[in-house]
Amino acid sequence: MELTRTHTCGQLKKSLLDQTVCIMGWVNSRRDHGNIVFLDIRDRYGVTQTVFNSEKSTALHKEARHLKPESTVAITGQVCARPSHLVNPNMATGEIEVEVTGLEILSVSKTPPFTIDQRQDIGEDLRLTYRYLDLRHPKMQRNLIMRHKAAQATRSFLNENDFLEIETPFLMKRTPEGARDYLVPSRLYNGKFYALPQSPQIYKQLLMLAGYDRYYQIVKCFRDEDLRSDRQPEFTQIDIETSFLRQDQILEFTEGLMRRVYRDVLGVELESTFPRMTYQEAMARYGSDKPDIRFDMELTDLSSVAAESGFKVFADTVAAGGQVKAIAVKGGEKLSRSRLDKLTGIARKFGAKGLVWIKLSRGNFKSPIAKFLTDRAKSDIIKLTGAVSGDVILAVADRPAIVAEALGRLRLELGKELKLIDENKLCFLWVTEFPLLERDEEEERWTAMHHPFTAPMEEDASLFETDPGAIRAQAYDLVLNGVELGGGSVRIHRREVQDKMFHALGMTQEETEEKFGFLLNAFDYGAPPHGGIALGFDRLTALLVGEDNIRQVIAFPKTNRALSLMDGSPSEVEPGLLEELGLLIKPKEYGIRSADYAD
Ligand code: AMO
Ligand code: AMP
Repeated sequence: MELTRTHTCGQLKKSLLDQTVCIMGWVNSRRDHGNIVFLDIRDRYGVTQTVFNSEKSTALHKEARHLKPESTVAITGQVCARPSHLVNPNMATGEIEVEVTGLEILSVSKTPPFTIDQRQDIGEDLRLTYRYLDLRHPKMQRNLIMRHKAAQATRSFLNENDFLEIETPFLMKRTPEGARDYLVPSRLYNGKFYALPQSPQIYKQLLMLAGYDRYYQIVKCFRDEDLRSDRQPEFTQIDIETSFLRQDQILEFTEGLMRRVYRDVLGVELESTFPRMTYQEAMARYGSDKPDIRFDMELTDLSSVAAESGFKVFADTVAAGGQVKAIAVKGGEKLSRSRLDKLTGIARKFGAKGLVWIKLSRGNFKSPIAKFLTDRAKSDIIKLTGAVSGDVILAVADRPAIVAEALGRLRLELGKELKLIDENKLCFLWVTEFPLLERDEEEERWTAMHHPFTAPMEEDASLFETDPGAIRAQAYDLVLNGVELGGGSVRIHRREVQDKMFHALGMTQEETEEKFGFLLNAFDYGAPPHGGIALGFDRLTALLVGEDNIRQVIAFPKTNRALSLMDGSPSEVEPGLLEELGLLIKPKEYGIRSADYAD
């Protein structure tokens, strides 16, 4: 290449008129008007129109006529004003064009499998196979630029607040967390495995024990779990840990971090403190531990009406310790019968045995269970739900967890369908006081709701012996518009509390020693009170740029079947390599366990 790039394709303005410039980039499009050929040249800064005039240079004009889109070129020429009727106000460079005096073809492109501008019309699989082409689109470039800005804003804020960025290992001992681990076989020690970290949780706690009282890392985490639009097998966290701070102080500086990111990336000023809600309240009012509070449609409890209601399902459910709850759907009267059947299907999918609907229209109470209900029950239901003529009431009777899940999902579904959600709102919310333990009914044991190092609330610590399920944790999630953006906790820093926790989880002394011995030993040498949080950086970026799939903000994501279509991983390896690792693959084990990866 002989030429020197003097400007980018987003830079040329009227102030540079008559200057001789050199731009380099991709041929975005070619328009052939006979004697005049226009080439739009694109780089990540923008698009510039260049003009090849046969009257000025036949040779250049001829070359331009045959240039294929997506070829890379270096172009020299003069910045000229476009005739006023050809000014394009939608383009940053729309007032000028470059009259070409020199062209160097840097490389010729084959016809690409799709036109960059038409990426939205083609399937995602093809875009992921040719990700390097897809990433040429200005929207994808904008997404990755915003991601970069969010990372920089995060770093600036944390650096200014005395945080140290410290790397932690990717090859580590397998320590059970929530999801399945990715394992890496050891060549030097056949039969042994490293695990890729699901998060740097243990290391960041060890750093606190080592005296590095403010740590952060923008770090990859690896989890072999069922994938969805907001889950990837490898994803990025803004991982934070601090010593000597209480929960409210951790929440406060996290709010500061969010404010900084929104200010630096979008120029948006967030509220100075985010609302807080306990887990119990979130579940009761919204049927979710990550409520989308951009709209109301809260759950109301009808259990008090159930016994005398006349409808046996309601009465029996409450008598058996269950609940009856309902949502009142504004304007829901217009929902058709088949739509109500579909909603019943959704409720069933999330465990409900059925869904009662009640349509209110001009004094009419229309419902499949109307004939069972007493007049008193009817008027109580209307009063409690606050429903008015034109609404539909949807009710579920079941165990509290199922009632919450079913109605919580219906609430979201209907909020979207009936356009009750103001897309311009940013509703941050802290959910606090999560239960410390969760019951695994199948295995009849307690599991840690967050992770086993999470501290109980001090006033609940005595419940380990009497009522473990009632212990609230010093754990918190940050929610934005119904998306779980991050989660964290104050950690246990005293050995005797940690022992109680492991005991509650049904782990023997030997098991804890084997699994977490190195961490527990460290606690014997002076542990500071500590706590932290991890924010899902892919989710944060997706919300910042307004994408609802995190693949849109990750340069090289996997599909929701955990495949990398571009490089074809995971792939088989040579038998020799397996031998070195001491591994033998059973032939029947090849292939995808499709049950794990739903589309
Ligand atoms: P947790 O498991 O809640 O906490 O993870 C923190 C945040 O990471 C994001 N996240 C994901 N993003 C994309 N794909 C995934 N598969 C995925 N899994 C999680 C979410 C989530 O809120 N060590 C603790 C944090 C702590 O206690 O400090 C942890 O990892 O946004
Ligand atoms: P059934 O008595 O089974 O014909 O049910 C009458 C109506 O009540 C149907 O619309 C069911 O979907 C609904 N239903 C049944 N069980 C429940 C439940 N546990 N909660 C809410 N609705 C239910």
